[in-house]
Formats: sequence, C-alpha cells, structure tokens
Amino acid sequence: MGTILVTGATGTLGRPLVARLLADGAAVRAMSRRPRPAGDDRACDWAVAELASGAGLADAVADVETIVHCATNLRDDTAATRRLVAAARAGAPHLVYISIVGVDRVPYFYYRGKLAAEQLIEASGLPFTILRTTQFHDLLARVTLAQRWLPAVLSPAGVRFQPIDVTEVAARLAVLAQNAPAGRVADMGGPQVRDAAAFARATLAAVGRRRPVVPVRLPGAAFRAFRDGGHLAPDQAVGTVTFERYLARRQENSS
Ligand SMILES: NC(=O)c1ccc[n+]([C@@H]2O[C@H](COP(=O)([O-])OP(=O)(O)OC[C@H]3O[C@@H](n4cnc5c(N)ncnc54)[C@H](OP(=O)(O)O)[C@@H]3O)[C@@H](O)[C@H]2O)c1
Repeated sequence: MGTILVTGATGTLGRPLVARLLADGAAVRAMSRRPRPAGDDRACDWAVAELASGAGLADAVADVETIVHCATNLRDDTAATRRLVAAARAGAPHLVYISIVGVDRVPYFYYRGKLAAEQLIEASGLPFTILRTTQFHDLLARVTLAQRWLPAVLSPAGVRFQPIDVTEVAARLAVLAQNAPAGRVADMGGPQVRDAAAFARATLAAVGRRRPVVPVRLPGAAFRAFRDGGHLAPDQAVGTVTFERYLARRQENSS
C-alpha cells in the first residue's frame, strides 16, 4: 500500500484519522499550513501546503496513492477542493472525501460548498470515495461552550441533532482509504436523535455550568430544512458512542 496523504491532518477529524492509519501500519503524510509542531515524533511525513493559494500542494500530493481530504474552512471549500483535484490529477490517486449528511437537502451556505466539492470530485475522473456523516459531538459541545459570556445558552428551536463520535468516523475513513474506491458510500449517523437543547443542557451539566438554555426560532430556508431534519440519518444510526460518553471522556482528558 502506498502513501496516504491526509489534508486537514491537524483538525478534529484529521488527528484521530492519522492516529488510526498509523496504528494500521499505513504510510501517512500529514498536511497542514503550518510546520510540524515541535515534539511531534509520530511516524509520519509532514507536508506544508495552503489550499487557498495552492502553495506547496504539488509536493504534498507527489507520489501518494490515496488522499483523504479533511481540510476545511467556512469560506472556500469548493475552490480549495478544485485546487487539490487539479494538483492530484497527474498522479490519479484515490480521493476520499468527508462530507455531511443532507448537503443536498439543507440550503446552508457551508453545505452548498460541500455539495459543490462532492460534485467536483465525482466529475474529476479520479477514483473516489465519498462518506457523509452527521455532526461530530465536538461541534455541538463547542457551540454551547462558545457562549460562555452570555447569561443564557441559545439553541435553535425545533432542530434535532444526531451527533457522532469523531473516532468512529476516523475508523470508517481509515478503512475506506485502505480499500478500493467505492464512490458514494452509506451515510453514517450517531446513535441518538435528540433536540438541540438537550445537547446544550448535557454539555453544561458536564462542565458544571449553570445556565438556562433558551430555544430561539431562526429564520430562513436553511433553518427550515434543519427543522425538517434534512441533516439527520435516522436509518443509518451506526455510531455507538453516545454524547454523554463523549462528554465524560472529554472531561477525563481535560482534568
Ligand atoms: N465538524 C463536524 O461536525 C463535521 C461533520 C461532518 C463532516 N465534517 C467534515 O469533516 C471535515 C473535517 O472537519 P473538522 O471538524 O475536523 O475541521 P477542523 O477541525 O476545523 O480542521 C480543519 C483542518 O483544515 C485545515 N485547513 C484549513 N484551511 C486550510 C487551507 N487553506 N489549506 C490547508 N489546510 C487548511 C486545518 O489545518 P491547519 O490549520 O493545520 O492548516 C485543519 O487541520 C470537514 O470537511 C467537515 O466539513 C465535519
């Protein structure tokens, strides 16, 4: 098996994915915009590249058999993916892309960019695999904890979530990356669908913070689609790690 390049290797998903691939004995090249952190002695290569400009990309993709594209930012995921595909084309690697359940149902600007990136990859002529998952536990916890300066935590009224543990997504991606291109594969959802406010309350309880949770009805087509559950995959509730287990592990790691 040849080298696997992981874009976004320093991110919430990229970190456990690199760890999983290394544990599997794969040859990994981690990509980031920054140099390798001091003290990082993991047995992987490191490539510094910037998807917004393309700087460093040619070297990052050189001689790789597979690319798992986890890099993201809110602004220009489509353009970044176009640059990655263009740089990768000559070597024809297997391109594995992580996307989000409901990108074709929820007209949220970030999801539109992910859908366009999926379409770019499908039309690229490169062998590809696309996995869509629901939100990661980390994201829901972060949204609640980010509101620490407010007297109450706001949560979108009428919206449910089905978050999944990022380690389970990383494990699935690692398998997909080490197997033949499979096109669009089955969606992955977390084990429980619950109201947004319930996740906010659980997060506050886990960190011992007392705040009321106030549901707020958000306007617009995107939030209507979220209320309709366009981002959920109840028939694909394959994740096993509950939000409470995630919170308990998070607290253990931070103490
Ligand atoms: N979070 C969720 O709930 C969720 C759910 C389903 C799917 N996903 C998808 O999973 C993927 C990973 O999400 P995440 O939560 O792990 O993201 P994240 O923690 O925000 O990490 C983003 C990564 O992208 C890299 N990056 C950002 N801009 C870059 C640029 N211009 N050039 C090169 N690298 C760049 C960052 O690396 P450096 O800063 O080191 O350069 C970082 O490692 C995304 O595609 C996301 O849409 C996320």
